[in-house]
Parts: sequence; C-alpha cells; structure tokens
Amino acid sequence: MCGIVGYVGSREAAPIILDGLKRLEYRGYDSAGIAVLSDGTIGLRRDVGKLINLERMMTEEPLRGSVGIGHTRWATHGAPSRRNAHPHVGATGEVVVVHNGIVENFPDLRDELSAEGATFNSETDSEVIVHLVERYLSLGHDLTEATRRSLAHLKGAHAIVVLSNREPDKLVAARIGNAGGVAIGIGVGEMFVASDIPAILEHTRQMAFLESRQMAVVTRAGFECFTLEGAPVKLAINTIPYDPIAAEKGEYKHFMQKEIFEQPRAVTDTIRGRVDFESGRVSLPELNLTPEAAQALRRIVVVACGTSFYSGMVGKYMIEKLAGLPVEAQIGSEFRYAEPIVEPNTAALAITQSGETVDTLAAMEEARNKQATVWSIVNAIGSMAMRVADGYILMQAGPEIGVASTKAFTTSMVDQYLLACYLGQLRGTLKGRALRQAADDLARLPDLLGRTLERESEIVALARELKDVRHCLYLGRGINVAIAYEGALKLKEISYIHAEGYPAGEMKHGPIALIDREMPVVAIAVKDKIYEKMLGQIEQAKARGGLVVALATDGDELIRTKADRVLYVPECPPLLAPVVNVIPLQLLAYHIAVLRGADVDQPRNLAKSVTVE
Ligand code: AGP
Repeated sequence: MCGIVGYVGSREAAPIILDGLKRLEYRGYDSAGIAVLSDGTIGLRRDVGKLINLERMMTEEPLRGSVGIGHTRWATHGAPSRRNAHPHVGATGEVVVVHNGIVENFPDLRDELSAEGATFNSETDSEVIVHLVERYLSLGHDLTEATRRSLAHLKGAHAIVVLSNREPDKLVAARIGNAGGVAIGIGVGEMFVASDIPAILEHTRQMAFLESRQMAVVTRAGFECFTLEGAPVKLAINTIPYDPIAAEKGEYKHFMQKEIFEQPRAVTDTIRGRVDFESGRVSLPELNLTPEAAQALRRIVVVACGTSFYSGMVGKYMIEKLAGLPVEAQIGSEFRYAEPIVEPNTAALAITQSGETVDTLAAMEEARNKQATVWSIVNAIGSMAMRVADGYILMQAGPEIGVASTKAFTTSMVDQYLLACYLGQLRGTLKGRALRQAADDLARLPDLLGRTLERESEIVALARELKDVRHCLYLGRGINVAIAYEGALKLKEISYIHAEGYPAGEMKHGPIALIDREMPVVAIAVKDKIYEKMLGQIEQAKARGGLVVALATDGDELIRTKADRVLYVPECPPLLAPVVNVIPLQLLAYHIAVLRGADVDQPRNLAKSVTVE
C-alpha cells in the first residue's frame, strides 16, 4: 500500500518525512521518493526498492528545507522505477504531487494534457494530476483552487498532497473515496499530513481526518478544511492515545471496522502492478505459468476453508466465464479424506489468508501427491502455503488483524478475477475488447466499494432493529450464494447469533418451514440475470410472515414493494458484484456485534489461523 507523509514547520523536513515513511513500511512498497522546498526551489530524490536506498541518496545529496512531502509506492501503472516513483513533478518544476489511488480515466486525461503540450516523464496514472494543477496555475488560479479544479477531473478514489514553490509555506491535501486516509497532525508551529496515523504519532497526538470529497490547506500555523465544492468544513480534532495498537486502529473502534473500510485501498493494492489498463493485459509472474501449461490445463480444484472457501465459490464463476476452465470448490478439511480424483493437467488452487491453515495445507499436499500443479492465494508473505506452492498470488491486503476476515476475503476474490483474466489471455478465451472490458470493470471496483461504505449509517439503523434476533437466514442465487454463506458466517462468528446461508432456490425443498416472524431473512436481490427469481423467493418469505431485508441495486424501486427493508448497492459488473455485495453484510454483522457488546476482534473460541485439525 502506498504511504504519504508531509511536513510544514520550522524543523528540517527530510528526517521527519523519511522516519514517517519508515513507520508505514508494513504496508509494502517498491519505490520511494521525497521533495523538499528550499529557498524557492523544490529538490527531488526518488529511488526504487527499500527506503534505505533513498536514505543513502539523501546522505550523498541532502535536501535542506522545512517544507516537504514523501511517498512510498506500490507500482500500478508503470513498473517500479525512479521515474515512476512519487513525488511527481510537472513541466515547470514549480509543483510536486504525491498520490494514493488509481486515476481510472487517466488515458483520456493523458491524451487531453498531451494535446495541450504537456510532456509526460513517467508511465504512471498519478502524473496527470501534477499537469492538471500546472494547467490551472497557468490560468491564474492559486494553489488551492488549482488543486480543487484538478480533482474535479479525476475518476476513482484518491488521496493526494500538493506542494508548490509559488506558495512555499503551504501543503494542499485532499481525499476522494477510500484510497487511503489523510490524517492532519497538529503541532506547535508545525503541521503534519500522513496517510496513516503511525507515521506522525511521535510528533503529535492531535489529529483531524479528511473524509471523502474534502480538502485541507495546511500551513505551519494550522489548517483550513473545505469540501471539494468549496464549502468550509470544521473537522473534529481527535486525541490519539499513544498506544501503538490504538494507533494501528486509527480512527476506528476495532481492527475489523478499520479493515472493512480499508477494502477500497486494499483492492487497489491487489490490482497494483498487475494490470495494463490500456491493453487490459494481466501479469501474474509469481504463478510461474507458461502459455503452454495454461493451454494444457483441464480443470481447477479450489481447496480452502471458511471464508476463503466462500471466496473460491465466487472464483469458480469468474474463472469458468473468463478462462473457459471447469472449476470445483472443495472444503479443505473434506478434500484430503474424499479420495479425490485428480486427473493430469489439474491445478489445485489453495486460498488461505494466513497461509497456515492446516486443513488447507493438507489438501495442497494431497493434490500434489496426485500430481496436480499446486497454486496458492495468500495474504501472509512467507507463509507455508506460499512457500510450498508451485506458484502463488499475493492478496496484498496488508495485515488483517481481526479474526473475522473481511479485506482478505474481498482481495482473494479480486486475485481470482485477475487469475481468470490471466488464464483467459494465455488460453485465448479472453482477448481484444473483452479483455479491455474486464480490466475496465476491475478499475471501477475501488470506487464502487467506497461508495458502498459511505452508506454505513443505514446499516447501523438496521443493526439496531436486528441486534436481538436469535436466528437469521441469508439467501442468494448464482454467484451470490457464496455471499449468503459469507454474510451468515460473519454474523454468527462475531455476534454469536445463529445464522444460515442458503441457495434461495432450495428454500422450497424444506428450509421454508423455518420462516416465521422470528426468522428474519436477508435476501441478495441485486439486478442480475436471476433477479426475477429472487423476487419470487422474497414473496414466498413474506407470505410466511418473515421480516425480509433485501440487498438491491441502486434505482430499484420495485423491490421496495416486496421487502420490508432495503439496503442499496451501486450497479456492478456481475462477476465483481459479490465483492461489493458482501460489504453491507460485513457492516451489518459488525454493528450488530458491537451493539451486543461482543468482542468483535477476538470472538470466543476462534483463532485467526486454524493450525490444528
Ligand atoms: C473467517 O472470518 C474465519 N475467521 C475463518 O472462516 C477463516 O476464513 C478460515 O479459518 C480460513 O482461514 P485462512 O484463509 O487463513 O486459511
């Protein structure tokens, strides 16, 4: 994940920025850079690899000054390199920008700016921002207005900080969606900006946090905050407890809540460096897969447990649709005792956040003993499942502390989408326009997640209604059956309410006998090819007196006449809809558990990694 640190005050900026970036290293990166303003000139140092390389550069060629910005980058558009590292500088050398997020419409913006004479020095999407700021400065706007106008052009979720020698004692910061936070640290005669609290906590515990579509003008005397529409905003000043764990939670009450809200940024990082959005081509080098081996593949068996198994159920649809390969998802603890038939040219795909789940590891071993190629999708770098596999795909979600898995679940589905595209490319089942469309759909995902998270308040209200229920039924169809299972698992594992996920079409074969006023039903009824069928299931549940909560697509008014409560999600490409649909269910389980006073991050009887049978 990218990290941002900015400083304006009376001390040397460079040491403060570099130390802050080091405190964000846990988020992972592949290049780093710093810009410091001194006597009207912006000095720039950038390098690939770890921060030690940048520090060495700074020792050899120091930058002196008391205003600066720094950045650690996960490569997205453009390989890790000095020219692609942030901060990005424009044509005049008067402006530098650091950026977290993906500029979804950067090809069009790049063409537009090039036509105006802009020369691009990198392959990154982020560079378009600095050229936009320069455009508006050249039209006579000040730095704040130039930044505000530039942001209006950007699609997607972003966090940025801008510095210019035209207004030397000023940083302009802004946030759109959930591509990473923007914390403003308040010091005495100095101010700080960072993408996460740990970077600046040693300097101040007084912090304010930008929300989506807000910007701040920061000087050594303090800061002013506005909406992107220009209306002044008064931000709350929080006192952060100097407790590293509390710092890690940041503005959130629990790790689980933080990790739910990190998902747009986590998914952005899962995508980073793996998709060329102009051609749509995906690259997954750690899979060690040749085109010949991909074309020889005949079947994929997914082996996983719990939430990761539900992720594999979604991946089945993605890979079958985009790669034309049969996929079967099997529970890890069953696979090894089922005497599974594994034909030649079968790949076993293990999905495991911890990479240490004993049932999944054993399933991997069983598959290998039967001559299958063994891949893994893991979050924990260096874990057993990563090391023993023939090839792997990292979730790149950052550490997941909450026992109830959230961002690992969504990023593992994104990894399978990437795998599906990659296999489709190599096998020739996905090319040209369809390949580009698949990548365009993926580029929309972080923003769709962010827009869904912005509806948390509606879910809190529903949680108050449901917090004392003793049972709950989750229904879905097709690709969303897995999300019904996952929604039920989230509720039962952190609130201890009995909850069950079920294929909606199966209700008439028995479970509908359960439905009464004491059995609320959560029905995933988004607009897809089996929407009409779900309406029927909702009517059947209503006819038996059940309270029905529908998960529906924005703009669907008909559903209001069928269900008692409706939670809306944005329209989403069908193969990626499960990634969005799970968000309200994660939040519902979280808020019900909080209202019940449950130990959300450490539920009873559960462990983050099940290393025993
Ligand atoms: C998820 O909320 C649960 N904590 C549990 O089902 C978990 O997904 C399962 O134990 C698998 O863990 P893994 O992904 O680390 O293998």
